[in-house]
Amino acid sequence: MIRNYNGIHYDNRFREFDADLDFWKEQARRFGDPILEIGFGTGRVGLVLAREGYRITGLELEVSMLDRAREKIKEENLPVEVFQGDMRGFNLGQYFPLVILPFNGLAHLLTFRDLMDTLRAVERHLSPGGRFVFDYLNPNLEILSRDPNRWYPSSEYFDESGRKVVVREKSYYNAQSQVNRVTMEYSCETGEVSEDDIWMRMFFPCELEALLALNGWEIEGRFGNYSRAPFNSESPKQLIICSPRRKK
Ligand SMILES: C[S@@+](CC[C@H](N)C(=O)[O-])C[C@H]1O[C@@H](n2cnc3c(N)ncnc32)[C@H](O)[C@@H]1O
Repeated sequence: MIRNYNGIHYDNRFREFDADLDFWKEQARRFGDPILEIGFGTGRVGLVLAREGYRITGLELEVSMLDRAREKIKEENLPVEVFQGDMRGFNLGQYFPLVILPFNGLAHLLTFRDLMDTLRAVERHLSPGGRFVFDYLNPNLEILSRDPNRWYPSSEYFDESGRKVVVREKSYYNAQSQVNRVTMEYSCETGEVSEDDIWMRMFFPCELEALLALNGWEIEGRFGNYSRAPFNSESPKQLIICSPRRKK
């Protein structure tokens, strides 16, 4: 299993998370319209950009996420088109000056081939001079060396009916495949318990840099957080602005 995202859990859990939105608004101002978001999820980022007046297209694999996104698009009557599809091989027949992949979506590309296929698909959809911008984590060795038999507290939230939900997580990091298998457990105060399994591939900084370069991409900016601090050893994030290298 690669992932099993649940749109309701996701929206409840990240309803309040907005730390990245100014970063995305800035990318939209610099490069955007129309904008393609791959790994669209429930529209947490794309719908904010649509409310600012950008024309948004979203590509998402998981039906449960897409269903939530469609409900919200309809409720607000926003100019957003969403498609179910796989970022590793899609063809929308459209070009965009900006393609974005927010909030660690890159981690779901479990092999270097998945990443190469995605880069090729993104390149097919970029207008000349277009940019691909992604927000990816900087692998944290403390998290990766967690005890795989122990539950760790994650977060708490109130669901759509106002019930308290406590989230904890357990993970097993395979150092050969560089995939961290994370189980999220959601315990509702009513006693219901459910789980999501999310597999996340770790791309270490020099590896990511090499994969981009060897696949013909040029990094124009790499930041370590949403305030655009330069990337360094302590950075929690790898925020990368890149484009296909121009043919000589
Ligand atoms: C962490 S969520 C981010 C969602 C949204 N962009 C946000 O910022 O809230 C990553 C999303 O990528 C989707 N995803 C994972 N693999 C995918 C693939 N191969 N093609 C398209 N979407 C994928 C997941 O289903 C999930 O909705």
